[in-house]
Amino acid sequence: MKHLIAPSVLSADFANLQRDIEMVNSSEADWFHVDVMDGVFVPNISFGFPVMEAIKKYAAKPLDVHLMIVSPDQYIERFAAAGASVITVHYEACTHLHRTVQAIHAAGCKAGVAINPHTPVVLLKDILADLDLVLVMSVNPGFGGQKFIPNTLNKVRELKAMASTINPDVIIEVDGGVGIQNLGDLIRAGADAFVAGNAIFGAPSPTAMISELKQLDAQLKSS
Ligand code: DX5
Ligand code: ZN
Repeated sequence: MKHLIAPSVLSADFANLQRDIEMVNSSEADWFHVDVMDGVFVPNISFGFPVMEAIKKYAAKPLDVHLMIVSPDQYIERFAAAGASVITVHYEACTHLHRTVQAIHAAGCKAGVAINPHTPVVLLKDILADLDLVLVMSVNPGFGGQKFIPNTLNKVRELKAMASTINPDVIIEVDGGVGIQNLGDLIRAGADAFVAGNAIFGAPSPTAMISELKQLDAQLKSS
């Protein structure tokens, strides 16, 4: 499978959201990454249902919704109704993670679990078989434009090895500080999907950057 690129709407120009969504529609990107922050789980507030519904109105590609919120269970159905294809909750925010994952599936969405930089991959061992996606955070969640944490590469390798016996089809997604400079290493480590905010929306031509990220051949690119 060719790797997936998910531009993060958090880095879009909110005053020109329709324009930026249409740019992603007409690009080689695969998904829209939608970051929902509650100011409790993370030290920042992004946006909620009205903005997500506005994104859905124009988006012609699946919405990959990353919930950085406490108690996500109570909102799963609303995020599904608002147009989510993938709903990812944080391991650190869910006491009854297995129940939450079942609720995401029952709502008709793919289920993802995100782990913060300090959370060991091995803690996912007994939930991995139930997941469609694991989101490995390569920055501390809360803000776009942060620096990639290099230990993420070790975590991706470890997760890939664990998934090969438990759930070989699980999508390994990496989020935070991802760009052309580390994409090759991440693909070789075993990651399948990549969130990019600043690298895309901060580029002189976001469309060209998406194309560059999508077309990168991991065998040729070493950094
Ligand atoms: C951070 C968010 C990311 C963020 C990525 O908490 O989960 O999705 O938008 O932005 P960049 O690619 O700029 O690090
Ligand atoms: Zn995210």
